[in-house]
Amino acid sequence: MIISACNETIALTEKKSEFPTKAYKLNENGSVHSTSIDIEDFESSENCKSCHEDHYKEWSESMHAYAMKDPVFFSGWNGEQQKRHETGERFCIQCHNPVAFVSGVDLSGFLTAEDLEASDHPQSIKEGIGCAVCHSMTELSPSIHTEDIIAANAKYFMNPGEGVYYGSIENPVENDYHASEYNPAFPRSEACLPCHDITIRGVEAEITFTEWNRIPGLAMGNLLSCQECHMPVTTRPAAKDGPERVVHRHTFVGVDLDLTRPAEENPQIDEVKSLLENAVELNFGWPNDSFTATVQQGDSLYIPITITSLTAHSLPSGVSFAREAWIELTVRDTDESLLFQSGLVATDTSALDLLDSNLVLFTSTLFDENGEETGSVTDVHSMENNSLLAFSKQFRQYLFPLPIDYSGELSVHARMLFRSFKPASLSSHPDLLKNLPIIEMESISETISVTPL
Ligand code: HEC
Ligand code: HEC
Ligand code: HEC
Ligand code: HEC
Ligand code: HEC
Repeated sequence: MIISACNETIALTEKKSEFPTKAYKLNENGSVHSTSIDIEDFESSENCKSCHEDHYKEWSESMHAYAMKDPVFFSGWNGEQQKRHETGERFCIQCHNPVAFVSGVDLSGFLTAEDLEASDHPQSIKEGIGCAVCHSMTELSPSIHTEDIIAANAKYFMNPGEGVYYGSIENPVENDYHASEYNPAFPRSEACLPCHDITIRGVEAEITFTEWNRIPGLAMGNLLSCQECHMPVTTRPAAKDGPERVVHRHTFVGVDLDLTRPAEENPQIDEVKSLLENAVELNFGWPNDSFTATVQQGDSLYIPITITSLTAHSLPSGVSFAREAWIELTVRDTDESLLFQSGLVATDTSALDLLDSNLVLFTSTLFDENGEETGSVTDVHSMENNSLLAFSKQFRQYLFPLPIDYSGELSVHARMLFRSFKPASLSSHPDLLKNLPIIEMESISETISVTPL
């Protein structure tokens, strides 16, 4: 049962902070009707580099810096603009480019990241979710809910352009460049709103925050916050010439990589692997049904397996419909020849066999108004979510008929694997598809002996 006994989130987002906030008003299409925020109010992250060198380097390798560089984003965004002329451009921009959103800069007409890069727009627009987006935050935002008119309606509370940056250092040392203000909102999971939580037509389309918020007991005390796992702490100066402090890494490692280059050349690959290796546990057997190490010739091979989530939201989460996590199970005889398999793919980009009745697969599927499968989140009318719930256990089983004449040892090997894109969803991006890695999350082995009759 999922319960959420705490309404502190609401209380916090409605509470007015002591900081001034620059307002903007939207029309029914999600475009700015009036705004007190000017595009020049946002500094480029480049301006922070000289003093916050480590934060800058980490951020620049993160997906936040990739939000307006991602070719998959550009094709989806252009598709949305064609489908919904009035609202499509703003809808995606509200999270992928808050700077353009709140200042009302129209970005329609850019087909690729290269086009945008070559334009006269300021750097702050080209860099997606830069330092100034998050560090102008004065108050927490609520989640985004969109109904049948798929229009942007994100509420940001920010005070950019006044030479002050907000953060979680309680006693920041002064500097000549900007004023610093301590804002207790920063260490909270709600600081990742509005972007990491959206429902569309009542469908829980991308609800990482809500999944976390539903774990009883966490939200109340801000225990196990998003930052704890995605902004791990380290000790170093927070700025040039500043004192040593406990600071937060800005790599924002998740499951995704910039696929415009080979995975092994990606600066985040090792951290993505390590995050995924710590996300689940696999065990043969169930609590009341242990793994049978000996079977009789002619019997069926029955392999129970327990999958335990160590993750504080679903796995996959967010754009779960694009991702897939599954178990590859192989059974080999003493000659290493394969007797059975489930979830085994020939290459990193081969499709899974969805007709395999043994397949253990964690993903979600979106359906449009005709009940047809769709890859477009804005067309969603219903959703089938088979993600592994936060900190849950699943008990699954494999059943294979043994060859009647086989006796001897069998080796059973199970691996949980992750792919940040279902290969089919990258079919229009073959150049990215070739860089898509399968990442091993966990691997276990056992031996079964088949005793002769
Ligand atoms: C001239 C150097 C310098 C530049 C340039 C600079 N900062 Fe800072 N910043 C500092 C110093 C020094 C501190 C205080 C560090 C400390 O107390 O450990 C600081 C602190 C901060 C804090 C923490 C505030 C708090 O109370 O938690 C944030 C956030 C911040 N800077 C953001 C930025 C951003 C964003 C930029 C670029 C737009 C930027 N800084 C540019 C020197 C600089
Ligand atoms: C997606 C939002 C986001 C972006 C983008 C971002 N930060 Fe932060 N930053 C945070 C949060 C949240 C914290 C506080 C984490 C905590 O205390 O749990 C933080 C903390 C800090 C601090 C205080 C020291 C520390 O690490 O705890 C500094 C300085 C800082 N950020 C600078 C920057 C600079 C410079 C950039 C751009 C290169 C940047 N940040 C980009 C969200 C962001
Ligand atoms: C202004 C909107 C915004 C805010 C605020 C924000 N994010 Fe994000 N985040 C995004 C977007 C958009 C992406 C995906 C960018 C892309 O891949 O194109 C993303 C990507 C990520 C990823 C990588 C996901 C993956 O699949 O690899 C992680 C992890 C992440 N964010 C964590 C956080 C955390 C933690 C916070 C709060 C401290 C936060 N974000 C605040 C918009 C935001
Ligand atoms: C206990 C550690 C932990 C906490 C707390 C946590 N995450 Fe994660 N996060 C993970 C792990 C592990 C993964 C990789 C497995 C997965 O996708 O679920 C991940 C993946 C993600 C992804 C990529 C999801 C996908 O499958 O595309 C995003 C986005 C993200 N986290 C954001 C958040 C946000 C926002 C919060 C807070 C509401 C948060 N995380 C809290 C551990 C954590
Ligand atoms: C509510 C905020 C929000 C809106 C609106 C939004 N996104 Fe995102 N988007 C995110 C976040 C957060 C992530 C990262 C989630 C994750 O990794 O699971 C993301 C990830 C993505 C990714 C995956 C990036 C990658 O390379 O893996 C693509 C593509 C994308 N968004 C495209 C779009 C398009 C196109 C639209 C408009 C139709 C859109 N988004 C609207 C927040 C948003």
